[in-house]
Amino acid sequence: METVVSGIRSTGNLHLGNYYGAIQNFVKMQNEYKCYFFIADLHSLTTHPTPANLHGNVKQVLVEYLAAGIDPEKATIYVQSDVPEVTELYLYLNMNAYMGELERATSFKDKVRANPDNVNAGLLTYPVLMAADILIHKATKVPVGKDQEQHLEMSRTFGNRFNRLYNNDYFPEPYAFSFGESLVKIPGLDGKGKMGKSEGEGNAIFLSDTPEAIRKKVMRAVTDSGPTEDNQPKPQEIQNLFDLMNVVSAADTIAHFDNLYNTCAIRYGDLKKQLAEDMIIATAPIREKINDIANDAPLLRQVARYGAAKARESAAKTIKEVREIIGFRNF
Ligand code: TRP
Repeated sequence: METVVSGIRSTGNLHLGNYYGAIQNFVKMQNEYKCYFFIADLHSLTTHPTPANLHGNVKQVLVEYLAAGIDPEKATIYVQSDVPEVTELYLYLNMNAYMGELERATSFKDKVRANPDNVNAGLLTYPVLMAADILIHKATKVPVGKDQEQHLEMSRTFGNRFNRLYNNDYFPEPYAFSFGESLVKIPGLDGKGKMGKSEGEGNAIFLSDTPEAIRKKVMRAVTDSGPTEDNQPKPQEIQNLFDLMNVVSAADTIAHFDNLYNTCAIRYGDLKKQLAEDMIIATAPIREKINDIANDAPLLRQVARYGAAKARESAAKTIKEVREIIGFRNF
């Protein structure tokens, strides 16, 4: 059976981009593959969270994984820092990851531009740690959003380079995977790029948002003054709202608003009201579970321990074999 690995950085509440880009695939894949889903708390250290924030964020992601339907009996759910074998593999892979290729990574350049005062080595080698996450379980399928494709390509490069260096075919090639035909990009509400936490207040709809909060954020989404000619192409901020409708609304609802746009009869207030209600309905089953799970400390402890033990078993096997390949041998 093919192995699947994916993780989400623990920076707090999950949003619709995480859900439709990744988690929905996790929930489907757990029935068909050997799945490892983790919480990337080591990756989150690049921004120097306080210990209390770090722990709270890890807990939040764990709670929301469970609320969204990831089943600890079907998939292995674990916290990245509970599996120290990952950091050992990261060190080995760092030895043949080159400065030039790391500096050219789009995500690195974006981070440098956004935070020029915090260009640390962990940020530079972020894709190496991600490769270690995936290769530690010799995974071939990685459910992620569209923005992660370059990182997957780098994971293949690092695995292949290791194989070539030691003249074997130890690591298989991991590829991005989505159950739909293409990788999904979920736009934010600011009229610009993808949904994300760091893109500013109000840009992301969280799984834990109340219906009231969802309505407020959606009504404030950026729009233009409306079409003036029939069948005019949609500007980015309007296309974004339609892209969001595409994931939460029924086909005839989307067709209805598309038609109104194309005949210049659209009222964005109506479209936003509908979008907000459809988002509220789509997220209700998850939202309703979040509080109960968050208050169940014994459950969370048990899930984390059980997952860590299963993940370490797989990771320890890889590290043992990798040490042998590299030439760390017992006397
Ligand atoms: N880089 C991913 C993101 O930002 C998170 C991540 C870390 C990941 N390690 C991974 C995803 C391994 C898939 C596999 O969303």
